Amino acid sequence: MNNISRLFNSIALIAIPAFVQAQAGEQQITYNGEAGRIINENCVVCHREGGIGPMQFESYDQIRPWAPLIQLKVANREMPPYAYDHGIGIQNLQGDWRLEQEEIDTLVAWVNQGAPLGDPDSPLAAPRLNDPDAWNFVSELGEPDLVIPSVAIDIPANGNDLWSTHYVPSGISSDRCIKAVQVKPRGDAKSVVHHANSTIDVYNDDGELERYSMLTEYAMGKWGELVPEDVCRTIPSNSMVRWSIHMFPGGLGSIAPGTIIEDNVVEIGLWLHPEGYEDNVGYTQDLKQYNIQYERAERDLRLVIPPHGYTMTQGFHSFDHPVRIDSFQPHGHLRMRSASFEIFYPKTGQTEEISQISNWSATWHHSHIYEPDVAPLLPTGAVLVLKQWYDNTADNPNNPDPDQWVFGGSRTADEMTHAWIAVTHLDEEGYEKLVAERKEKEARSFAGND
Ligand code: HEC
Repeated sequence: MNNISRLFNSIALIAIPAFVQAQAGEQQITYNGEAGRIINENCVVCHREGGIGPMQFESYDQIRPWAPLIQLKVANREMPPYAYDHGIGIQNLQGDWRLEQEEIDTLVAWVNQGAPLGDPDSPLAAPRLNDPDAWNFVSELGEPDLVIPSVAIDIPANGNDLWSTHYVPSGISSDRCIKAVQVKPRGDAKSVVHHANSTIDVYNDDGELERYSMLTEYAMGKWGELVPEDVCRTIPSNSMVRWSIHMFPGGLGSIAPGTIIEDNVVEIGLWLHPEGYEDNVGYTQDLKQYNIQYERAERDLRLVIPPHGYTMTQGFHSFDHPVRIDSFQPHGHLRMRSASFEIFYPKTGQTEEISQISNWSATWHHSHIYEPDVAPLLPTGAVLVLKQWYDNTADNPNNPDPDQWVFGGSRTADEMTHAWIAVTHLDEEGYEKLVAERKEKEARSFAGND
């Protein structure tokens, strides 16, 4: 493109929106109207005093200087931070932070119009705010039934990766089904805790602790997990919680060197169903880590990403009984750029795309929870196909150093390749029943549309 046509194009880009507006007599969008409502409902939860966002969006005066950056981040779907591709696979998710296209268009047009305040005599109602340290599910479920804190530790504010592994009693005195779970670093621990995995362990007959199941996986930015109503994810009585906490003081959120962040505690909030709930539901659900090729393999087969290069991994898993997949959360670090989840059906030879995340950021880990009536139902033998793609070039905006060889490992500068998946374990009867219910619902909605 020569300079003149480039100049012409940039003038056209600036000029067209105003022209179209004038032609169409488009309504003015204002902060006191639609724009403020969208920001209050979708952004202020983090962009507020004491929130995790770097700037505050609680009033017009606070927002106005950021309008151009808000436009960019919203148009690129970088904010709200929920990377999950549109137009591929299942789109009905619980706790989905993504804006509707119409809301994005409204914010973009508002900024193009100069981000006006609107009628000062009819101000926007102030956003409704919870305490920023409150549990995320407090408005739907109230306070957790049980809070399980980790043992407090002091860590330097600036330094290398640190891990702490220890046991604490779960405090559960009779078997219970989990309704929801959230992991929450307390206070300053928010800035240094990268991952906090917890498992449920029980004593075997020899008095030794044995893994019973995963309790939950936490990584920075994660909101929490809801278990579907029709299953039981059990936490047994007299169990112990085994914490494995990964801190990265020198990474995101590091503060002044030489200081110590004291008493770092991570808490698990558990919302439980009443005792005896398991008698009313037929099936159990569990959350597990599904490894992908290479991660735990022999040394020469390990995950390796060359400097300025790419790597792709792929993993397969199947079950000897029918299952329902309730949630999917890929896991990688700074070089991972995309992840996908497909299902291969050996009987038909078909592969179905379920979820894709093609703009991954390790700052935000989401468990994508499928709405119960669209959660994938797998006949016996169907195969989960998990793929993850790594970019160690300078084009990856999250890459701290494209000159490094990167290997599979637990440090933030290493890479990982696995996914967390919640699975309801069905039998043939339960599977047939769910399939029939869905067919019936579909038929009813067709009939309703006539
Ligand atoms: C769940 C919390 C959360 C929500 C919801 C959220 N943000 Fe953010 N926002 C953050 C954090 C944290 C950052 C810091 C950068 C990062 O970690 O991605 C950020 C950064 C930003 C930035 C600055 C980016 C930069 O390059 O400096 C803008 C602008 C922004 N957010 C706008 C918005 C808008 C507009 C919305 C709503 C449509 C929104 N955010 C919703 C947490 C949030």
